[in-house]
Amino acid sequence: MAEVTLKGIKKAYGPVTVIPHFDLDIQDHEFMVLVGPSGCGKSTALRMIAGLEEITGGTIEIGGRVVNDVPPKDRDIAMVFQSYALYPHMTVRENMEFGLKIRKTPREEMNRRVNEAAQILGITEFLDRKPKQLSGGQRQRVALGRAIVRKPAVFLFDEPLSNLDAKLRVQTRAEISKLQKTLKTTTVYVTHDQIEAMTMGDRIAVMKTGELQQVGSPLEVYDRPSNLFVAGFIGTPPMNFIPATVTTGGDAVAASGFTLPVPAASRAATAQRTGQKVVLGIRPENIREAPRDPGDAAVPITVKVEFVEPLGHEVIVHGRVGDDLLVAKVEPHRAPKMGEEVRLVIEVEASHLFDTATEKRLGDN
Ligand SMILES: Nc1ncnc2c1ncn2[C@@H]1O[C@H](COP(=O)(O)OP(=O)(O)O)[C@@H](O)[C@H]1O
Ligand SMILES: [Mg+2]
Repeated sequence: MAEVTLKGIKKAYGPVTVIPHFDLDIQDHEFMVLVGPSGCGKSTALRMIAGLEEITGGTIEIGGRVVNDVPPKDRDIAMVFQSYALYPHMTVRENMEFGLKIRKTPREEMNRRVNEAAQILGITEFLDRKPKQLSGGQRQRVALGRAIVRKPAVFLFDEPLSNLDAKLRVQTRAEISKLQKTLKTTTVYVTHDQIEAMTMGDRIAVMKTGELQQVGSPLEVYDRPSNLFVAGFIGTPPMNFIPATVTTGGDAVAASGFTLPVPAASRAATAQRTGQKVVLGIRPENIREAPRDPGDAAVPITVKVEFVEPLGHEVIVHGRVGDDLLVAKVEPHRAPKMGEEVRLVIEVEASHLFDTATEKRLGDN
């Protein structure tokens, strides 16, 4: 068990800096997800923690020990990759034993650990098979098993579910979460998938082009995204961004098709911004037929429907309000048709305002 601390981590490949300065504290037992679009530096960050990639600057501590110059095998970590990285000529058992063997674990202890992990993962019946005789999901379990038997201080996962089909991905996601809750092993989990991040992480760290944007619990990040990038990255369909202008007195914002009172969290920030342009952010789930709680402030709008996506349990409506396009989620019982005009409401307190220039959220975080 261990905390992982990254202090001022930098990574450059020759003249190209991919991570300029990265600070992150991961607590003991914590499940931390690094999430961001492809190419933002997630794998690089993870591989630096693993010791597979040299750091250009900064300090990495695992369990209070600086590991900058400690080789990967002595860092007390176990890594699971997207590609599984199993040895094809070895059986499942041999694959799972491998890391223990090179650490000269006694045979009995090795058997005990492998059998236990195989049982937890439901792969006991495959122990004598070779990887090619297994499905993708089963192979990924073997890769997990190989990490578990080591009883490392830290698990490092790099997009371990990306090669699985959608259904298996959801199932394995839940299994990894449960497993981590049982073992309580500190975990750093990399994914580009914001739903994986939201559902698995105790906290999530959102990255963009090598820079950390926000760290917080999934709900903190969802409820109070620190900037436009995070707001647009977390949530599906993504948050609507609508240009608006702060009205006289600073207590409302006017978009092309409606005026919305400023949500409480942003009032201090808009008080001095009369006439200034801002970006209004509204999640599709906060544009509804009626507010969730009838006591909540809500502004009625008329949406000219351009496109409808029925998903069964909900309907995604793409439409126009004034000059602006927006996406709303409505209940399936009254799916509007293309060309129709529907009356919906925007939930005021669930809306966000962002500074047009800095892209930061105008709020209390
Ligand atoms: N060996 C390398 N040499 C040069 N650039 C690299 C190397 N490895 C990764 N990069 C660059 O570093 C950036 C981050 O890559 P990576 O960490 O793999 O992103 P992610 O895992 O978030 O998709 C990318 O722009 C990538 O092109
Ligand atoms: Mg990657």
